[in-house]
Amino acid sequence: MKIERLSLGCKSLDDLLGGGLEYGVITNFYGEAGSGKSNLALIATKNVVAAGKKVIFIDTEGSYSIERINQISKAPEKVNSNTTLLEPMNFNEQHKMILELSKKISKEIGLVVLDSLVALYRIAMGPDTFEDTNRKLAAQLLELSKIARENKIPVLVTTQVYSDFNGTTGDVVLVSKDIAKYWSKCLVKLEKGPKNLRKAQLTRHRSRPEGLETNFFIVETGVESRESEHDRLF
Ligand SMILES: Nc1ncnc2c1ncn2[C@@H]1O[C@H](COP(=O)(O)OP(=O)(O)OP(=O)(O)O)[C@@H](O)[C@H]1O
Ligand SMILES: [Mg+2]
Repeated sequence: MKIERLSLGCKSLDDLLGGGLEYGVITNFYGEAGSGKSNLALIATKNVVAAGKKVIFIDTEGSYSIERINQISKAPEKVNSNTTLLEPMNFNEQHKMILELSKKISKEIGLVVLDSLVALYRIAMGPDTFEDTNRKLAAQLLELSKIARENKIPVLVTTQVYSDFNGTTGDVVLVSKDIAKYWSKCLVKLEKGPKNLRKAQLTRHRSRPEGLETNFFIVETGVESRESEHDRLF
Protein backbone atom coordinates (compact mmCIF):
# COMPACT_ATOMS: atom_id res chain seq x y z
CA MET A 1 0.00 0.00 0.00
CA LYS A 2 1.32 3.44 -0.91
CA ILE A 3 2.16 5.57 2.09
CA GLU A 4 0.89 9.07 1.57
CA ARG A 5 2.78 12.06 2.88
CA LEU A 6 2.26 15.77 2.43
CA SER A 7 5.59 17.20 1.30
CA LEU A 8 6.76 20.45 2.84
CA GLY A 9 8.90 21.01 -0.25
CA CYS A 10 12.06 21.22 1.85
CA LYS A 11 14.35 18.23 1.45
CA SER A 12 15.80 18.16 4.94
CA LEU A 13 12.38 18.36 6.61
CA ASP A 14 10.77 15.91 4.20
CA ASP A 15 13.60 13.44 4.78
CA LEU A 16 13.20 13.84 8.55
CA LEU A 17 9.50 13.05 8.24
CA GLY A 18 9.90 10.21 5.77
CA GLY A 19 8.47 12.28 2.92
CA GLY A 20 6.34 14.85 4.74
CA LEU A 21 3.31 15.10 7.02
CA GLU A 22 1.62 11.79 7.63
CA TYR A 23 -2.00 11.34 6.58
CA GLY A 24 -4.51 10.20 9.19
CA VAL A 25 -2.75 11.63 12.24
CA ILE A 26 -1.91 14.87 14.03
CA THR A 27 1.57 16.28 13.46
CA ASN A 28 2.56 18.77 16.13
CA PHE A 29 5.30 21.32 15.52
CA TYR A 30 6.36 22.78 18.84
CA GLY A 31 8.97 25.33 19.80
CA GLU A 32 9.71 28.82 20.96
CA ALA A 33 8.49 32.02 19.28
CA GLY A 34 10.01 32.48 15.84
CA SER A 35 11.11 28.87 15.53
CA GLY A 36 9.16 28.44 12.29
CA LYS A 37 5.85 26.83 13.30
CA SER A 38 3.59 29.22 11.40
CA ASN A 39 5.91 29.21 8.40
CA LEU A 40 5.50 25.45 8.15
CA ALA A 41 1.73 25.73 8.61
CA LEU A 42 1.49 28.24 5.74
CA ILE A 43 3.80 26.19 3.52
CA ALA A 44 1.75 23.04 4.10
CA THR A 45 -1.38 25.07 3.26
CA LYS A 46 0.14 26.36 0.03
CA ASN A 47 1.25 22.86 -1.01
CA VAL A 48 -2.18 21.35 -0.42
CA VAL A 49 -3.84 24.08 -2.50
CA ALA A 50 -1.23 23.60 -5.24
CA ALA A 51 -2.21 19.92 -5.30
CA GLY A 52 -5.84 20.91 -5.96
CA LYS A 53 -7.32 20.54 -2.46
CA LYS A 54 -8.72 22.92 0.12
CA VAL A 55 -7.56 23.75 3.64
CA ILE A 56 -9.25 24.62 6.90
CA PHE A 57 -6.92 26.91 8.85
CA ILE A 58 -7.85 27.65 12.46
CA ASP A 59 -5.86 30.74 13.34
CA THR A 60 -5.93 31.67 17.02
CA GLU A 61 -3.37 34.47 16.92
CA GLY A 62 -3.32 36.14 13.52
CA SER A 63 -0.62 33.94 12.09
CA TYR A 64 -2.27 33.52 8.67
CA SER A 65 -0.32 36.35 7.03
CA ILE A 66 -1.45 37.41 3.57
CA GLU A 67 1.92 39.07 3.13
CA ARG A 68 3.76 35.84 3.91
CA ILE A 69 1.46 33.90 1.54
CA ASN A 70 2.36 36.41 -1.18
CA GLN A 71 6.04 35.64 -0.57
CA ILE A 72 5.80 31.86 -0.49
CA SER A 73 3.24 31.26 -3.24
CA LYS A 74 3.19 32.00 -6.95
CA ALA A 75 -0.60 31.91 -6.81
CA PRO A 76 -1.48 33.62 -3.51
CA GLU A 77 -5.11 34.40 -4.46
CA LYS A 78 -5.68 30.73 -5.12
CA VAL A 79 -4.24 29.84 -1.72
CA ASN A 80 -6.46 32.39 0.02
CA SER A 81 -9.62 31.44 -1.88
CA ASN A 82 -9.12 27.74 -1.16
CA THR A 83 -8.43 28.23 2.52
CA THR A 84 -11.26 28.55 5.02
CA LEU A 85 -9.89 30.74 7.76
CA LEU A 86 -11.49 30.28 11.18
CA GLU A 87 -10.49 32.81 13.81
CA PRO A 88 -11.65 31.98 17.31
CA MET A 89 -11.27 34.87 19.74
CA ASN A 90 -11.25 32.87 22.95
CA PHE A 91 -10.80 29.30 24.08
CA ASN A 92 -14.53 28.56 24.24
CA GLU A 93 -14.93 29.70 20.63
CA GLN A 94 -11.96 27.52 19.65
CA HIS A 95 -13.59 24.60 21.43
CA LYS A 96 -16.93 25.09 19.71
CA MET A 97 -15.30 25.47 16.28
CA ILE A 98 -13.30 22.28 16.64
CA LEU A 99 -16.21 20.23 17.95
CA GLU A 100 -18.28 21.40 14.97
CA LEU A 101 -15.44 21.08 12.46
CA SER A 102 -16.52 17.74 11.01
CA LYS A 103 -19.53 19.51 9.42
CA LYS A 104 -17.10 21.56 7.33
CA ILE A 105 -15.08 18.56 6.15
CA SER A 106 -15.69 17.31 2.62
CA LYS A 107 -13.72 15.28 0.11
CA GLU A 108 -12.16 18.53 -1.10
CA ILE A 109 -10.37 19.20 2.20
CA GLY A 110 -6.75 18.07 2.12
CA LEU A 111 -5.49 19.55 5.39
CA VAL A 112 -6.62 20.99 8.71
CA VAL A 113 -4.31 23.41 10.51
CA LEU A 114 -4.62 24.62 14.10
CA ASP A 115 -2.09 27.41 14.72
CA SER A 116 -1.85 27.51 17.65
CA LEU A 117 -3.30 24.93 19.96
CA VAL A 118 -2.43 26.63 23.22
CA ALA A 119 -2.46 30.44 22.78
CA LEU A 120 -6.10 30.82 23.87
CA TYR A 121 -5.84 27.83 26.22
CA ARG A 122 -3.22 29.66 28.26
CA ILE A 123 -5.46 32.70 28.60
CA ALA A 124 -8.42 30.56 29.69
CA MET A 125 -6.34 28.66 32.20
CA GLY A 126 -6.64 29.54 35.88
CA PRO A 127 -6.99 27.80 39.23
CA ASP A 128 -10.81 27.59 38.89
CA THR A 129 -10.83 26.62 35.24
CA PHE A 130 -7.93 24.18 35.29
CA GLU A 131 -9.90 20.94 34.97
CA ASP A 132 -12.48 22.23 32.53
CA THR A 133 -9.84 23.82 30.28
CA ASN A 134 -7.71 20.69 30.18
CA ARG A 135 -10.75 18.53 29.53
CA LYS A 136 -11.67 20.77 26.59
CA LEU A 137 -8.15 20.69 25.20
CA ALA A 138 -8.15 16.89 25.26
CA ALA A 139 -11.61 16.81 23.63
CA GLN A 140 -10.37 19.10 20.85
CA LEU A 141 -7.38 16.89 20.16
CA LEU A 142 -9.55 13.79 20.18
CA GLU A 143 -11.85 15.43 17.63
CA LEU A 144 -8.94 16.52 15.44
CA SER A 145 -7.40 13.08 15.51
CA LYS A 146 -10.76 11.56 14.54
CA ILE A 147 -11.03 13.99 11.63
CA ALA A 148 -7.52 13.04 10.50
CA ARG A 149 -8.22 9.32 10.72
CA GLU A 150 -11.72 9.24 9.26
CA ASN A 151 -10.84 11.49 6.33
CA LYS A 152 -7.30 10.22 5.85
CA ILE A 153 -5.85 13.72 5.86
CA PRO A 154 -2.98 15.31 7.76
CA VAL A 155 -3.80 17.59 10.68
CA LEU A 156 -1.08 20.10 11.56
CA VAL A 157 -1.07 21.57 15.05
CA THR A 158 1.42 24.02 16.51
CA THR A 159 2.34 24.50 20.16
CA GLN A 160 4.35 27.41 21.52
CA VAL A 161 6.87 26.52 24.13
CA TYR A 162 7.46 29.37 26.54
CA SER A 163 10.59 29.86 28.50
CA ASP A 164 9.49 29.69 32.09
CA PHE A 165 11.26 32.66 33.66
CA ASN A 166 8.95 33.29 36.55
CA GLY A 167 7.90 29.78 37.37
CA THR A 168 4.18 30.55 37.22
CA THR A 169 3.41 29.07 33.83
CA GLY A 170 5.44 25.91 34.22
CA ASP A 171 2.69 23.57 35.37
CA VAL A 172 0.20 24.83 32.84
CA VAL A 173 2.62 24.38 30.00
CA LEU A 174 3.50 20.93 31.26
CA VAL A 175 -0.10 19.76 31.37
CA SER A 176 -0.87 21.04 27.89
CA LYS A 177 2.32 19.45 26.63
CA ASP A 178 1.36 16.07 28.04
CA ILE A 179 -2.12 16.27 26.56
CA ALA A 180 -0.81 17.41 23.17
CA LYS A 181 1.92 14.78 23.19
CA TYR A 182 -0.54 12.03 23.88
CA TRP A 183 -2.73 12.92 20.91
CA SER A 184 -0.01 13.81 18.39
CA LYS A 185 1.36 10.76 16.63
CA CYS A 186 4.16 12.87 15.19
CA LEU A 187 5.97 15.48 17.28
CA VAL A 188 8.62 17.77 15.87
CA LYS A 189 10.60 20.08 18.10
CA LEU A 190 11.79 23.30 16.40
CA GLU A 191 14.66 25.41 17.68
CA LYS A 192 16.13 28.74 16.62
CA GLY A 193 19.73 28.90 15.50
CA PRO A 194 21.71 31.93 14.40
CA LYS A 195 19.94 34.21 11.90
CA ASN A 196 17.50 32.25 9.76
CA LEU A 197 18.78 28.78 10.64
CA ARG A 198 16.40 26.43 12.45
CA LYS A 199 16.75 22.93 13.85
CA ALA A 200 14.01 20.29 13.70
CA GLN A 201 14.07 17.17 15.84
CA LEU A 202 11.70 14.25 15.63
CA THR A 203 10.63 13.54 19.20
CA ARG A 204 7.78 11.14 18.40
CA HIS A 205 6.91 9.17 15.27
CA ARG A 206 5.10 5.94 14.48
CA SER A 207 7.57 4.67 11.90
CA ARG A 208 10.73 6.78 12.09
CA PRO A 209 13.56 6.77 14.63
CA GLU A 210 12.93 9.27 17.40
CA GLY A 211 15.73 11.76 18.07
CA LEU A 212 16.53 12.26 14.38
CA GLU A 213 17.30 15.87 13.66
CA THR A 214 17.97 18.18 10.77
CA ASN A 215 18.36 21.83 9.90
CA PHE A 216 16.48 24.18 7.62
CA PHE A 217 16.49 27.87 6.78
CA ILE A 218 13.60 30.34 6.74
CA VAL A 219 13.91 32.37 3.54
CA GLU A 220 11.80 34.86 1.56
CA THR A 221 10.16 32.10 -0.48
CA GLY A 222 9.52 29.70 2.41
CA VAL A 223 11.92 27.24 3.99
CA GLU A 224 14.82 25.44 2.38
CA SER A 225 17.60 23.04 3.21
CA ARG A 226 21.20 23.66 2.33
CA GLU A 227 22.77 20.27 2.70
CA SER A 228 26.39 21.35 2.81
CA GLU A 229 25.89 23.88 5.57
CA HIS A 230 23.88 21.77 7.99
CA ASP A 231 26.42 20.31 10.31
CA ARG A 232 28.73 23.23 10.12
CA LEU A 233 26.21 25.80 11.28
CA PHE A 234 24.33 24.30 14.24
N1 LIG B 1 10.57 36.85 4.19
C1 LIG B 1 11.25 36.27 5.18
N2 LIG B 1 12.55 35.99 5.02
C2 LIG B 1 13.26 35.44 6.02
N3 LIG B 1 12.74 35.11 7.23
C3 LIG B 1 11.45 35.38 7.42
C4 LIG B 1 10.64 35.96 6.42
N4 LIG B 1 9.40 36.09 6.92
C5 LIG B 1 9.44 35.63 8.18
N5 LIG B 1 10.66 35.19 8.49
C6 LIG B 1 11.14 34.68 9.76
O1 LIG B 1 10.29 33.72 10.27
C7 LIG B 1 10.40 33.72 11.69
C8 LIG B 1 9.03 33.59 12.29
O2 LIG B 1 8.61 32.30 12.02
P1 LIG B 1 7.18 31.78 12.47
O3 LIG B 1 6.19 32.86 12.38
O4 LIG B 1 6.97 30.56 11.68
O5 LIG B 1 7.49 31.45 13.99
P2 LIG B 1 6.53 30.71 15.04
O6 LIG B 1 7.26 29.53 15.51
O7 LIG B 1 5.20 30.53 14.44
O8 LIG B 1 6.49 31.80 16.23
P3 LIG B 1 5.28 32.14 17.26
O9 LIG B 1 5.40 31.15 18.38
O10 LIG B 1 5.61 33.52 17.69
O11 LIG B 1 4.00 32.05 16.52
C9 LIG B 1 11.07 35.00 12.12
O12 LIG B 1 12.38 34.69 12.55
C10 LIG B 1 11.11 35.78 10.83
O13 LIG B 1 12.25 36.56 10.75
MG1 LIG C 1 3.33 31.28 14.87
